[in-house]
Amino acid sequence: MCGIVGYVGPKSTLEVLIGGLRRLEYRGYDSAGVSVIANGQLETRKKAGKLNNLVAEIEAHPLPTAHIGIGHTRWATHGAPTDGNAHPHLGGQTSRLSLIHNGIIENFAELKAELLASGTKFSSETDSEVAAHLIAKAFERTGELVAAFTEVVNRLHGAFTILVIDQDQPDVVLAARRNAPLVIGLGEHENFLGSDVAAFVEHTKRAIAVGQDQIVILRAESVEVIGFDGKPAETEEFEVDWDASAASKGGWPSFMAKEIADQPQSIADTLMGRLSHDGHVSLGDLAALSPEYIKNIDRLVIVACGTASYAGDVGKYAIEKWARIPVSVELSHEFRYRNPIITPNTLVVAISQSGETMDTLMATRYARELGAKVISICNTQGATLARESDATLYTHAGPEVAVASTKALTSQITATYLLALMLAEARGASAPAELARLGKELLKLPAKVTDVIENLPQAMALGTAHADASSVLFLGRNVGFPVAMEGALKLKELAYIHAEGFAAGELKHGPIALIEEGQPVIVIVPSPRDADSLYPKVISNIQEIRARGAKVIAIAEEGDATVGDYAESVVFVPQTEPIFSAVLSVIPLQAFALALSTAKGLDVDQPRNLAKSVTVE
Ligand code: AGP
Ligand code: GLU
Repeated sequence: MCGIVGYVGPKSTLEVLIGGLRRLEYRGYDSAGVSVIANGQLETRKKAGKLNNLVAEIEAHPLPTAHIGIGHTRWATHGAPTDGNAHPHLGGQTSRLSLIHNGIIENFAELKAELLASGTKFSSETDSEVAAHLIAKAFERTGELVAAFTEVVNRLHGAFTILVIDQDQPDVVLAARRNAPLVIGLGEHENFLGSDVAAFVEHTKRAIAVGQDQIVILRAESVEVIGFDGKPAETEEFEVDWDASAASKGGWPSFMAKEIADQPQSIADTLMGRLSHDGHVSLGDLAALSPEYIKNIDRLVIVACGTASYAGDVGKYAIEKWARIPVSVELSHEFRYRNPIITPNTLVVAISQSGETMDTLMATRYARELGAKVISICNTQGATLARESDATLYTHAGPEVAVASTKALTSQITATYLLALMLAEARGASAPAELARLGKELLKLPAKVTDVIENLPQAMALGTAHADASSVLFLGRNVGFPVAMEGALKLKELAYIHAEGFAAGELKHGPIALIEEGQPVIVIVPSPRDADSLYPKVISNIQEIRARGAKVIAIAEEGDATVGDYAESVVFVPQTEPIFSAVLSVIPLQAFALALSTAKGLDVDQPRNLAKSVTVE
């Protein structure tokens, strides 16, 4: 997972590297480190723990001014999060080469055995150090850094973005990419490398997404991209569509708080240009799906992980109801390895904020191998997932920095609504007037989200009041079910307490045994106006748990005059189409988890053991 940054140019390299790492720290924070070359000498500082530990280390042991360097923040896979295992790793007899790595080198054990047999000494337990020694050795043998680098990356299996600098060639950063992200930032007399554009967006918005199995030779005045076979590779420049302020806290206490508050805008941006004022959806981004193909789709499979999979779960209700296509939602890692039945008429939809989640990438590749078309719902320009899909519906939520996903989720859900309406129209599955009515209702969603945000202090106060809870349960039906699952996930990842989301109807089949005196339960109450008459059923479910001692917090629709009789507290959200209510009811749960975690004194942006983008399987 980890964040990677590289720089060559006239600026203070240390400032560029630390600034880049700050923006990438959400990707991993087990340790951080930098290497620079100054006055022909390689210098390295690294430290376990968050980036501030590295900053303190550099203050204690300053680095000379340099114009080339690399930096890393780690999410440990091989070896504990210690100073010794922190990147960069040095290679060569005189330790003149420095390397950083994102990913896992799967054949590191055999390569390490080979190096040990020839007398190489290791100073870490990482898989990454193997690559540093191999490249340094090949360079010693050939005297050609690019050739040595190319030779070695061809020997590595697994997932890696690798950056290398060597004091014998102090004007060049080399990078290689296989199954892990890497983007180039193009500047004037300077160039950048990063795991994503956040690494350098404050310096330049011109970027190139590096392709699979490509090598970058980066100098201040030139950028060369070649394949692992040494042949020149084609590249395509793109312009980053957000600026550095979007990736800064801007006065908020945490990125998560800011990103929750961003949601009226991020949802509006996801709808922009796709939904006309009369409620008609047109998705130019999905032009690769011909009308003929759409008519012949016989099944839709959504693949995603974690929060993104809950967006898929909500999407299933919308697509099945309006487009009448059977939908299954699968965790990418389960889908990939169970020999699923996929035909050319199966449309696979991959949902991912980062577009770099390895499990989802693997599922996508597999689906395409089996002959399916894959479209992605993705939030990151130039991401691997977008490059590897037949078409991409970008969510335009802007950068999401907090590890816990908030605005990306509600934009993903919004994108599934658009997809459902588009498919419904193309297949003639719902009456045009009904689709226009739904489209117009969808247009009102950002304003309703604003109302929800204004009322968040209530959900936050409830979160704070539950700081001592050791378990919170969540119940919902229909789209309220994935919302309940998401509420529970937020609490697990942010507050480290037991939390479960259940389909309310499932309770009596087992989980009700968990209820004892004082157990907090958050219930997503459907609209009393809903034709499917779920409302009385959920009210009955509330009665059943209250009879056994549960303390109920209800998330209910404005105008619901009776729910207050059945709950200790009620958080009201505006009325909308029942399927759209998922977006409104999930937001108070985000705020609840944020406040509960904050009250416990925990780091909401960087919860323990996690990383923002999971680039290993
Ligand atoms: C959400 O809060 C989590 N951190 C996590 O479940 C996340 O949604 C999941 O890892 C998928 O990430 P992606 O959207 O970048 O693929
Ligand atoms: N596998 C390497 C390690 O454990 C890199 C992990 C990462 O991507 O941060 O150090």
